[in-house]
Amino acid sequence: MNEGIRGTSYAQAGAAAPLASLRGVSKTYHAGDDEIRALRGIDLDIAAGEFLSIAGPSGSGKTTLLNLIGCIDVVDSGDLFIEGRDIARMRKSGLADFRRERLGFIFQSYHLVPVLTAVENVALPLELLGVPGREARDKARAMLAEVGLSGKEERFPSRMSGGQQQRVAVARALVKRPALVLADEPTANLDSTTGEAILDLMQAMNERHGTTFVFSTHDRMVMERARRLVSLHDGAIMADEVRIS
Ligand SMILES: Nc1ncnc2c1ncn2[C@@H]1O[C@H](COP(=O)(O)OP(=O)(O)OP(=O)(O)O)[C@@H](O)[C@H]1O
Ligand SMILES: [Mg+2]
Repeated sequence: MNEGIRGTSYAQAGAAAPLASLRGVSKTYHAGDDEIRALRGIDLDIAAGEFLSIAGPSGSGKTTLLNLIGCIDVVDSGDLFIEGRDIARMRKSGLADFRRERLGFIFQSYHLVPVLTAVENVALPLELLGVPGREARDKARAMLAEVGLSGKEERFPSRMSGGQQQRVAVARALVKRPALVLADEPTANLDSTTGEAILDLMQAMNERHGTTFVFSTHDRMVMERARRLVSLHDGAIMADEVRIS
């Protein structure tokens, strides 16, 4: 692993630890003279292998929370540990390395690179990690087969449906076998049948590979699929339920 990544390791301390741990995490945005307290003292532990949904009304802080856990943004105060690393105190370069190596992302609007084919999009995260081109493309093809896109490897995003593009995005998020996948409203642009199929796929990947998923949603159907549902309101956790399926 890259030398830029440092931090106290729970594993070294010999204690069992959650995959991600937040304590008293707060985030305030400044817009002109206004202060918007997007998150107020979040305490949350996420265990390896969870399939967890963050729900809550618009503006409740879901995206802000995912961006902090995803190391896209930094906490104002509080502690954030992922895989024992002290994320809140890591340097930007270390954070970027950690994100590239250990985290996967799925976005509401897919965010595929339009000038790259499906297989090139999925190979990209591996190439960024230094995997040789041919090996990266072979792994990308295998991952596309897993998400049901055999035969579509050479398609450009503009020639695929929204559901197919999101399958490519799921393959891209998983191809490097990340510890944690973060998905901000992954089904919001899809009709309910296609959205269910993407949830089926995410759940299959969670079960097959043990990858931890944290996804946000407004959608009741998506919430119903989570094994654990964390509800935000005004930047605070209102409920945290483990669901029995
Ligand atoms: N970059 C920003 N600058 C200023 N305020 C922001 C910024 N990003 C978010 N906010 C504010 O922070 C609060 C939380 O926003 P956030 O986007 O996390 O909510 P959300 O739950 O994801 O909402 P939605 O369901 O609409 O996506 C809101 O009041 C929002 O207006
Ligand atoms: Mg949001």
